[in-house]
Amino acid sequence: MKVGIIGGGGRVGSQAAFALQCGGIVREIALIDANPDMAAGEALDLLHGCALAGDQRIHAADIKGAADADLICITAGLRRQPDESRLALINRNVSLYRGILDSLRTISLNSHCIFLVVSNPVDILTRLHVEYLGWPARQVLGLGTVLDTTRFRSLLARARNWPPTQVDALILGEHGDAMTPIWSSATVAGMPVAKLLSSQQQAEIFSQTQTAGAQVIKLKGGAGYAVGLSIAEVIHAIALDRRRILPVSSQMTGQYGLKKVCLSLPTVLGRGGVEAALEPDLWPKEIAGIQAGARALEETWGKISIK
Ligand SMILES: NC(=O)c1ccc[n+]([C@@H]2O[C@H](COP(=O)([O-])OP(=O)(O)OC[C@H]3O[C@@H](n4cnc5c(N)ncnc54)[C@H](O)[C@@H]3O)[C@@H](O)[C@H]2O)c1
Repeated sequence: MKVGIIGGGGRVGSQAAFALQCGGIVREIALIDANPDMAAGEALDLLHGCALAGDQRIHAADIKGAADADLICITAGLRRQPDESRLALINRNVSLYRGILDSLRTISLNSHCIFLVVSNPVDILTRLHVEYLGWPARQVLGLGTVLDTTRFRSLLARARNWPPTQVDALILGEHGDAMTPIWSSATVAGMPVAKLLSSQQQAEIFSQTQTAGAQVIKLKGGAGYAVGLSIAEVIHAIALDRRRILPVSSQMTGQYGLKKVCLSLPTVLGRGGVEAALEPDLWPKEIAGIQAGARALEETWGKISIK
């Protein structure tokens, strides 16, 4: 599989490339960036490790280098300016993203190409990608709550000294303020987490999960390692046609009464992209949380100035 990363010279794009290099599954990684020197520098640094990591082709490219990609991951984005409102930042990112979609129209893409949207606001941009580019919805997915989910599992494990890989717990819905913790199915080694933690402990760990991104930005400027691993988890599931079920964002087709909006549900991933977005039997307050996230996203979608 050839993966193109648009925004590959930035923090998230280059960390995703490193996670893909360590995974050793994809054949080729092309880093594409508006700052070609950063893309070239990151690609060269990664290439220097190929003799130890694996037999992959890693290089920088311009947008034409995405033409024969099997999967294109988009991590290009802007950061908030001092005193800038959330909506103003959203509008700038929507405008930037639309520019990328326009540049993708100028090349002849593989018709089977799958897009993985990482740039924020990820659920809004995933919908923009489907509706503006007119690409088949099953071939467009957003990273959604995959990163929130790994943060939640890792923070639950840290709180009780549980092995992180044996904690199964989900965050669903919006990748944002309305993200929804799913306690009804959370387990550690098969045991129900909701019965092992007090409600105060549950509230604290969920609050740490909700504020995790802001905390990392405050301490080191932006997230990199965990989001890179999250991106690689999704790409490997697709590359190997594993049919893994991950909480990526995709366009709703009636789940919980939702249509058109993109948000995260447990989603079967295969070589064709989204095989199915599932509608599990959750607690009523969990379904209400997902629906509240959908309303917040619809409200933002109605306000963005460029569609
Ligand atoms: N979905 C998630 O879970 C998640 C997690 C972390 C970060 N993010 C998002 O990822 C995005 C990138 O974050 P970052 O920390 O890597 O930022 P960054 O500033 O380090 O990197 C962004 C890169 O995008 C490039 N770029 C800008 N416009 C471009 C264009 N038109 N074409 C190609 N490249 C372009 C820049 O040159 C830069 O190298 C942000 O939108 C951020 O909010 C999403």
